[in-house]
This record gives sequence, C-alpha cells and structure tokens, in this order.
Amino acid sequence: MNTTELIAEYREFSPRINRIGARDFLLFVEDLTAVFDGFKAVDIDAWGVKRNELRVVIGPNGAGKTTLCDLVSGKTRPTTGTVFFEGDDITHALEADIALRGIGRKFQTPRVYDSLTTFENMELALPGSRQVRKFFRRSVRRDECDNILQILERVRLKDDRHTEAKHLSHGQRQWLAISMLILSSPKLLLVDEPAAGLTDLETELTAELLLELKDEHTIIVIEHDMDFVRQLDSKVTVLNEGRILAEGDMGELTANEEVIEAYLGR
Ligand SMILES: Nc1ncnc2c1ncn2[C@@H]1O[C@H](COP(=O)(O)OP(=O)(O)O)[C@@H](O)[C@H]1O
Ligand SMILES: [Mg+2]
Repeated sequence: MNTTELIAEYREFSPRINRIGARDFLLFVEDLTAVFDGFKAVDIDAWGVKRNELRVVIGPNGAGKTTLCDLVSGKTRPTTGTVFFEGDDITHALEADIALRGIGRKFQTPRVYDSLTTFENMELALPGSRQVRKFFRRSVRRDECDNILQILERVRLKDDRHTEAKHLSHGQRQWLAISMLILSSPKLLLVDEPAAGLTDLETELTAELLLELKDEHTIIVIEHDMDFVRQLDSKVTVLNEGRILAEGDMGELTANEEVIEAYLGR
C-alpha cells in the first residue's frame, strides 16, 4: 500500500465524521502538525491505533517519533490538527488530565527516584493524590501492596524490591519505570525507546514484557533496535521527516523500496 492509499484508508475512520472510527480506534490523529521555528517536526494527515494493539513506530533520528508522543500526551501543543482518544477530542486537554483519562508515558530516560527503593518508587506511583495520602497518614493498603508485588514479580524485580533504584541495572530501571506506569492501569501506554542501551538479554525480556502487557493495554512502542522490533512481531508504522512513510509487518516493510531508502538501508 502506498502512502496515499494508507491515508485514504485511515481517513475513512475519522472520528470527526464517523462513529465507527471513534469506537474502533483508541487513538486517532488528524491533520496533525508540530512546527518549531518554521520546521515541521510532525506532519500527519490521518493515523490511528486500535484497541488492544501493540504498535511499533520506527524511523530515523529526528523523524518526529518523540514529538508525536509529546503531542498525544499533551506535553506539546500541536500547531494544527486534532488528537482523539476514545473518540473524544483531547487536543486542548491538560497533560495531567490526559494522564487521568488513561494515557501513560514512559520517557526515553526513565523517571525513577535513585535514592528510593524499587518498592518505594512503586508506592509513589500509586494512583491517588500524594497530598491526601500524606494528610491522612494512609499507608499502602493490602490490595495495593499485593498489586505492587504482583507487578514486580512479572518484571522480575520482586527480589530487588528493597534495592535502591541507583543500584539497579539500566534494564531494571526501564522495567521499574514501565511498572510504575502500569500501576495506574492506563488504557494507552506510550513507551519511548525501551531497548536503548540494554543488553541482548534485557532487550529480549523487555520484548516479552511488552507482549504480555498487550493483553490488558493498548501499547505504542517507539524503537530503533531492529532485533527488538522483530521480537515484538507487530504492525509497524514508519515515520520519516515527520510524515508516515509506510505501515505493515516487518516482512512487508523490508520489501518496501521507500522504507529501505529512508531507513533500513542505512
Ligand atoms: N521543542 C522543540 N523545539 C524545537 N525543535 C524541536 C523540539 N522538539 C523536537 N524538535 C525537533 O523536531 C525534530 C524531531 O524530533 P524528535 O521528535 O525528537 O525525533 P525522534 O524522536 O524521531 O528522534 C528534530 O529535528 C528536533 O530537533
Ligand atoms: Mg526520540
């Protein structure tokens, strides 16, 4: 499928004109641009991700992958266009409100507190206001504690629950950051370059973890590492110079001349 056909197909599902699109697509963006000093970092006509999909977004450095996450999570305001989440227009919603609606984000550099233990980091990430928690001197409830331990077990961090985060490996910190996100049960997880700087084994475990999480969350993974992308074995969107260049499984993309030219061939 060429880019024009791809866009035409997505356009059919525009939540603006079609309730089917609003139902089927958890996330949908239309005519979305982000312009910095006259430079178009993102320029997408129409694109969406369906519920319970694991979608991989690849593209060369500077393609606009992180900026796309910024636009969806409300960190950056689009210059033009609309972002729909569950069919609702969230383009002008505040970053915190977007998070409350169910969009969770793992940044390229994991945001964990070094001097706190794995468990304490998880405690801080529990949903509900920290002020309220402190005011009522409420400690972690039994069910919350169970939930934390269950997640830590899943990411193989249970034995390290009392280890300070600064002593965790780079991979373990990535898993902790993902675990902290899962605690608030986001409907959509945005995961920016989870395999960057990981060992081969850690990369494999990260792919396994994301595939497990796919049952309960819709996930968008941004990634560079082609071995990792192959392990995820999911639909891939190729971004290039802010635009969507192609979409398909890795087999289709490795046979696509445009993609080879722009990305894979290098
Ligand atoms: N806040 C910003 N101000 C100016 N330029 C930016 C800003 N954010 C991103 N850019 C530019 O937009 C382009 C896309 O960046 P980015 O989304 O980080 O790419 P990727 O994540 O695909 O490597 C880059 O050229 C970058 O320099
Ligand atoms: Mg990036």
